Amino acid sequence: MDSLPATAARVGAIAPFHVMEVQTAARALEAAGRSVVHMEIGEPDFPTPGPVLAAAQRALAGGDIYYTSALGLPDLRSAIAQHYADHYGVSVAPERVIVTAGSSAGLLLVMALLVDRDQRILLSDPGYPCNRHFVRVLEGEPVGVPVGPDTNYQLSAATIAQHWTPNTRGALIASPSNPTGTTVPPAEMAAIAATVARLGGRLIVDEIYLGLSYDLPAGGRAPSVLGSAGACADDLFVVSSFSKYFNMTGWRLGWVIAPERHVRDLEKLAQNLYISPSTVSQRAALACFRPETIALLEERRQAFEARRNFLVPALRNLGFGVPVMPTGGFFVYADSSRFDADSQRFCRTVLAEAGVAITPGIDFGRHRAEAHVRFAYTVAMEKLEDGVARLRRFLAG
Ligand SMILES: Cc1ncc(COP(=O)(O)O)c(C=O)c1O
Repeated sequence: MDSLPATAARVGAIAPFHVMEVQTAARALEAAGRSVVHMEIGEPDFPTPGPVLAAAQRALAGGDIYYTSALGLPDLRSAIAQHYADHYGVSVAPERVIVTAGSSAGLLLVMALLVDRDQRILLSDPGYPCNRHFVRVLEGEPVGVPVGPDTNYQLSAATIAQHWTPNTRGALIASPSNPTGTTVPPAEMAAIAATVARLGGRLIVDEIYLGLSYDLPAGGRAPSVLGSAGACADDLFVVSSFSKYFNMTGWRLGWVIAPERHVRDLEKLAQNLYISPSTVSQRAALACFRPETIALLEERRQAFEARRNFLVPALRNLGFGVPVMPTGGFFVYADSSRFDADSQRFCRTVLAEAGVAITPGIDFGRHRAEAHVRFAYTVAMEKLEDGVARLRRFLAG
């Protein structure tokens, strides 16, 4: 008999990332000599921009690697605020910016601020899986609202109102989303912000993929919710990150823009949960906003857009269902039910027989998960072309 005490119930409620299992199986195949096209990986293949690396090296050489304020380096908070003015045309007070250990820590801080036991947060299903786990770890109740092509696979003002109960504390939206790559249009975002405010709740918007938006007019920018939400903008929580647009996943750095009256409480939570975000990463990230870095990142954004422009029609041509064109990030959420009613089995077979690694829908929720798979275009165009050719041969045979 096991004499150790049982673990807390919350641990049993946390699902593992199936994508990691796909990745492990893919690596095992590679170790056995097979080639695999990786379309499961949720991070940019581009390396950290040179100016950022150089800034990190200078920081290391200078030796000033001590804890910072839990809110982050003042210079970095100001630089992030300035980025909103330069890039998105919105004015953000630097005092509202909290630098965090990835947007993951930002999401956890905001949930810890807002959610009490049994309180509900509305989330889209499919959606980014960690969100429901953050809520659950805090003894709250994540409520997955089934979404589909009719609302761009996003929550809408109408679905939020419909699922709201007296116990609902707020709604969390990722726009552009993981796994669907779809965006909430600005007018709908304004309606959502107004609806959540009218219902007495809080809106959290995850804009981690916003910098990677496509179909923009030359020199144009996708609007931040801070620009679309009108009078509600001061009461929103916006979560973002250096991971995706800035190609800095492993540096573990993100930020939250919070209503000013909540900054002190978020600071207390951050102090206690992790003291401060990584100092080297913060000093490195100061170089993110230099014109030469932004120019490089814009080239990379265009490379992602070209990959999307290749992959979506190619998948449709193979018979996958992609009813809404993804407009950001680097994922395509495709209906694979025509090939197999069980997308987990389909992913296993595609990996074993075609040597293409993709992620089953089960990672992103329950709603029609077995009918969907996620493709990531985080590999070079030649590899994407190879992946599509492999799928074509597999599906034909
Ligand atoms: C929608 C979304 N939010 C948040 C995160 C967390 O990213 P990070 O902690 O690296 O900022 C991810 C990572 O894939 C994501 O897809």
